[in-house]
Amino acid sequence: MIGVEKASKKKAFNIDAPYHVTGQTKYLDDVPELQGTLYAKVFYSPIAHGHIQHIDASKAAALVGVVRIFSNKDIPGENQVGGIIPDEPLLAEKEVHFIGQPILLVVAETEEIAIKALQLIEVEIEPKEVIVDPRQAFYNESLLSKSRTFNIGDTDKAFDNCKYVFEGTTESGGQEHVYLEPQGAYAIPQNRGSMLIHSSTQGPTAVQRTCARILGVPMNQVEVDVNRIGGGFGGKEDQASPWAAMVALAAYLLQKPVKYILERKEDLQMTGKRHPYKSEYKIGLNEDLRIIAYKATFFQNGGAAADLSPAVLERTLFHATNSYAIPNVNVTAHCCKTHLPPNTAFRGFGGPQGMFVIESAIHRAARELNVSVVELQEKNLMADGLELPYGQIVEECQAQKCWHQSKSNFDFKQATQEIEIFNQNNRYLKKGIALMPVCFGISFTNTPMNNARALVHVYSDGSVGISTGAVEMGQGVSTKMIQIAAQGFGVEADKIKLENTNTTRVANTSPSAASATADLNGKALQDATRQIVERLNVVVLEELKIEKDADIQLKNEWVYVNGVQSDLPWKDLVQKAFLKRVNLSAKGHYSTPRIHFDKTKEKGHPFAYHVYGTAILTTTVDCLRGNYEFDSVRLVHDFGASMNTAIDLGQIEGGLVQGMGWMTLEDVVYNEKGELKSNSLATYKVPDYYTAPKEIDVQFLETEGNEMAILKSKAVGEPPLMYGIGAYFAIANAILAFNPKATIPYSAPMTTEKVLLALYS
Ligand code: MTE
Ligand code: HPA
Ligand code: MOS
Repeated sequence: MIGVEKASKKKAFNIDAPYHVTGQTKYLDDVPELQGTLYAKVFYSPIAHGHIQHIDASKAAALVGVVRIFSNKDIPGENQVGGIIPDEPLLAEKEVHFIGQPILLVVAETEEIAIKALQLIEVEIEPKEVIVDPRQAFYNESLLSKSRTFNIGDTDKAFDNCKYVFEGTTESGGQEHVYLEPQGAYAIPQNRGSMLIHSSTQGPTAVQRTCARILGVPMNQVEVDVNRIGGGFGGKEDQASPWAAMVALAAYLLQKPVKYILERKEDLQMTGKRHPYKSEYKIGLNEDLRIIAYKATFFQNGGAAADLSPAVLERTLFHATNSYAIPNVNVTAHCCKTHLPPNTAFRGFGGPQGMFVIESAIHRAARELNVSVVELQEKNLMADGLELPYGQIVEECQAQKCWHQSKSNFDFKQATQEIEIFNQNNRYLKKGIALMPVCFGISFTNTPMNNARALVHVYSDGSVGISTGAVEMGQGVSTKMIQIAAQGFGVEADKIKLENTNTTRVANTSPSAASATADLNGKALQDATRQIVERLNVVVLEELKIEKDADIQLKNEWVYVNGVQSDLPWKDLVQKAFLKRVNLSAKGHYSTPRIHFDKTKEKGHPFAYHVYGTAILTTTVDCLRGNYEFDSVRLVHDFGASMNTAIDLGQIEGGLVQGMGWMTLEDVVYNEKGELKSNSLATYKVPDYYTAPKEIDVQFLETEGNEMAILKSKAVGEPPLMYGIGAYFAIANAILAFNPKATIPYSAPMTTEKVLLALYS
């Protein structure tokens, strides 16, 4: 094995790295194709809203090499892919609701033939009114789910007692996932009518459930297998399912293997993105600049079907006050139905959208009051004992510690002074600095989803095979699972094989999401290893003839008794256990303790714990051109006791830059007809080597870690994205250094055009 054995002795390695850099890692498209494999392509709606009058696919069907063209009428089960709410057909029936909505599925002998066939399909669609704006949808009473309100205290009364009250609006844009590997699936018919599906999904069980529903078969007839995926970022939590259902449908009806991997253009057009939001806020402060009351209304642009929008909406409310202690809060969110592709999970899952609004409100209030934003933020940071608007009492709060450490460790005072001097000395280049605190709750907000299982086999030669529900998408969860099993058995990582994520080995899994994958699956895995170790300990007692209360430990692939190495190595122990007919396999289970939430009251204790941190972002704006660069991002992050510093650092850097992209460069543009204008990677810009901050400095907050986190190593996947929100305010502050009267639009992304407009406003 390349590099793995040595690396595993360290706390900072990635089991996949040697295979990535040598191009050996296997993705969906590397699954060897069976002879006779057919290729699918979607024919989708060219308009955003309308009534289908007529479809003529006869010319396409007559094309040599076209095997069959499927419509909704061919679906043996239910034509339904909606996860939370059943409002989304797999293939359109009478109406279409967004450009890119699948209508027909063409299956051909080659991809090229399928593409040709698409051009021969004729449809007539009577156009209907198109709504792309969530506020307009709201006023038309076009909602995807029930509106929700979180409340604590009495905001209306509190506003009356506030010395200062400010109201305003904000907007934040969508965000394309740009996972390197597009959506796709490969279905292979098995014996007796069952189906094997290779899918690029974060949620193998979601794919299994949807495919069973479409085929009209029980879930046990569908096996979903995921080796690893080339990024998901939330985009494959639920939206990997339709493509799998399509190939499953064709494979089932034709009894042939069928494959579909979307081209980038198709993926951009057909799949949903981060939800754009339009929001209104009202913020009230007292004489001492304490925020006494906060009210906000969020209009979420859900797109044409519910997808995960109601859950995303909920997390916006959970994070509406970010890291601040506010006694009177009333926040309402509306899930608005528009004629865009259904928007979906994206790193942060609605949290970032909520946080952008409170940060905007604070920034605006500080400006109006002519006080420093930093002072206002600092005065209102949360601490232990605070009751959050949703009822959870804050424990082990690191908000202030991260804030102050980041200010002192990175010499914030001096940095501000240097920026002031720079700004005095430069007319057309201005620097801006911003602090961004983050507090993010860990657990699926939907309590029942917080569970996981693992399957462990110790083979008679002492090697170990582990299976969990975790999907590797680049976040390093495979390495973490291997570390946990290795630690559990006291063996080296090279003794552990991690199997593909497969619904037959581990069933009823939650998607790999909510940053909770390592916690949930890791704790289930610990449960399984613990069971086997307990059985092995009995064998140790018998073999070494020692007292029952002796302290037995497995480490360095050896048995230790009362801290002393015995003459029984791991391998021999396993062999002896095997001959004694001891069960060397175990299934582990974990369900997060303590958490609960009552939706009728909107109160409870939904999160196992919170993750904290503070980032300091510095930018330089070119005030003639409106361009900007980021000089540095320095941050203190609460990792708990990081179990893998290389992976966790990678998550911070990636999340940070992805969040900065959302706030600055990445502009998802739909016109009023619902046409996606940023429909290629030429017109949709993501951060790259040149636009990433010149310096990223990450410091680990020193803490004991949290018991609810796996090996006390806190979840790290999503929280860093929200540091990126600081990018908006760093630019805003640079603009204000150039033009103190500038109008800051509080509309993200802060593209170069918007910067220019603001500079000269
Ligand atoms: N990192 C990489 N490289 N690729 C991804 O797709 N997804 C993010 C985050 N980090 C993602 C990533 C999202 S949206 C989540 S929820 C978490 O990883 C999921 O993995 P975890 O639960 O193991 O943190
Ligand atoms: N986070 C991420 N994904 C989810 C959640 C959540 O809270 N709930 C359902 N899917
Ligand atoms: Mo992440 S948005 O929970 O997949």
